[in-house]
Amino acid sequence: MNFAIVGPGAIGSLWASYLIQAGHHVCLWSRNSSPHISIQRDECPAIQFHNGHTEQLAQADVVLVTLKAPQVQHVLESIAPHIDKDAILLLMHNGMGTAKATQTLFPNNPLLLATTTHGAYRPSSTQVLHTGQGQTLIGAVNQKGTQCEFLVEVLNHALPQVHWQHQINQALWNKVAINCAINPLTALHQIRNGELAAVHYRSQLDSITTEVALVMQAEGIDADAQHLRKTVNDVIEATANNYSSMEQDIAHQRPSEIDFITGHLIKTARTHGIDVPVNEQLYHAIKQIEQSW
Ligand SMILES: NC(=O)c1ccc[n+]([C@@H]2O[C@H](COP(=O)([O-])OP(=O)(O)OC[C@H]3O[C@@H](n4cnc5c(N)ncnc54)[C@H](OP(=O)(O)O)[C@@H]3O)[C@@H](O)[C@H]2O)c1
Repeated sequence: MNFAIVGPGAIGSLWASYLIQAGHHVCLWSRNSSPHISIQRDECPAIQFHNGHTEQLAQADVVLVTLKAPQVQHVLESIAPHIDKDAILLLMHNGMGTAKATQTLFPNNPLLLATTTHGAYRPSSTQVLHTGQGQTLIGAVNQKGTQCEFLVEVLNHALPQVHWQHQINQALWNKVAINCAINPLTALHQIRNGELAAVHYRSQLDSITTEVALVMQAEGIDADAQHLRKTVNDVIEATANNYSSMEQDIAHQRPSEIDFITGHLIKTARTHGIDVPVNEQLYHAIKQIEQSW
């Protein structure tokens, strides 16, 4: 198949490398204006990809968007004229809230969302390290998307495990819930995930997860505050040595994905008339840091 990877950063480079290795045609669409980009994954030989060619973008059967959430809308607006009307759009990023604008922009294309737990790190613009094996869940946003379940087999062949989710919103909310608990706190205090196991974070984490569970339930998503709290503890323990993506964004003075994580929670809470004061306080604290740069 013809794949276009839009936003070939750490996760996009990882997929580009595995997809081409599985025999697919893969082109890139990056901010870099160079016509070719070389990517070396782990110890594999470097591979050259075409980059920024509108004709190749137009031939893509699948447009895999691995931008960070805040970039999705404006980048897709800029490339919309070059995307085939039958191309499958697959958005893979943390957080929620980009699907609506994407659907408005591409009303006739199949639209899928994905969440992944693979770990990828880019030590330089031409290298990517696959730092952790994980799984990728994908599911449909619109009617045409429901006909694209076959893509699971294609992607699974390249970078397993990939699973189809009939309720992708459930998987995305589960991830948002964990991100709401771990990301803002680690970013504000500039700490590793494991440090959230300390006693003085307990009541704040309890409140965050209780608020998130209420909003999820109001959205018709399965959620239990105690179960969510336990999952958060498990993730804190399993990723104790890691810095969260928001911690790193704030440390490097890059705009974080807060609007699509805690911000999405707050927006959804408002539509149901639910108060989420602890999450709101964390949201404003992160925004304040970003606005101070
Ligand atoms: N990395 C992981 O292990 C991991 C794991 C799970 C989920 N995720 C999620 O996956 C998403 C991507 O993360 P990532 O770590 O791959 O981030 P990343 O390395 O920053 O990748 C994003 C890429 O988008 C590019 N980009 C920004 N603006 C663009 C534009 N106007 N046109 C084209 N490309 C543009 C960036 O270019 P520049 O290189 O020029 O900045 C960068 O290469 C995030 O939502 C993240 O939370 C990441």
